[in-house]
Amino acid sequence: MAIDLKDAYGLKTPEDSRRLYATWAASYDSGFAQAMAYRLPEAVAAAAARWHMTGPILDVGAGTGLVGLALKSYGLGPIDGTDIAPEMLEKAAQKSCYAAFFQGDILAGLACKSQTYQGITSSGTFTTGHVGPEALPEIVRLLCPGGLAVLSVSRAHWHGSNFPRHIDTLPGITARAVDEVSIYGDGAVGDRAADTAYLLRFRRR
Ligand SMILES: C[S@@+](CC[C@H](N)C(=O)[O-])C[C@H]1O[C@@H](n2cnc3c(N)ncnc32)[C@H](O)[C@@H]1O
Repeated sequence: MAIDLKDAYGLKTPEDSRRLYATWAASYDSGFAQAMAYRLPEAVAAAAARWHMTGPILDVGAGTGLVGLALKSYGLGPIDGTDIAPEMLEKAAQKSCYAAFFQGDILAGLACKSQTYQGITSSGTFTTGHVGPEALPEIVRLLCPGGLAVLSVSRAHWHGSNFPRHIDTLPGITARAVDEVSIYGDGAVGDRAADTAYLLRFRRR
């Protein structure tokens, strides 16, 4: 089955995501990431390095492991990966850059003790039809005091789901900052080729 970005942006529920990404796992790296010169995972990892993220790191919506690869290239780790779709995590495991994986729905809450991670990354998961701002308290719960989160949020989703209001009232965070980056690079095609995302960064108090 050929999958395109319209399918991904049309998702409505976590179960929709689990089903779509189960199918997309096989062709995600070659059919999507390479074809669209997908650069968001690198941008998230570069930001994590720039802001001195330390391990252990949890990569939320890890998918096929593109953020893990980029984090490793900056010498950051150890990295755990979590995703709602086990088929995506199987692909990530082949990249040999994660210490551990667990399947989970960030919207339902992860089976993980509070204050486990010094760093949390997420690329491409806070996007239309996927995960909204209601997952932010779970991110804060998982961070150690002083821990750093670097999360991409697609521009349309940022405004459409009113992330600024949710972030303004999110308890327990500090050092909040936002940068805008391109999601795709040179050679990307289609009406999404020029899309941007915000890189949201904050620390847990
Ligand atoms: C666009 S992909 C991004 C994957 C990877 N981070 C990247 O940048 O290539 C979005 C990922 O989020 C996962 N996802 C969607 N909804 C989720 C949820 N509620 N909880 C956890 N993961 C979810 C999907 O299974 C998919 O792997």
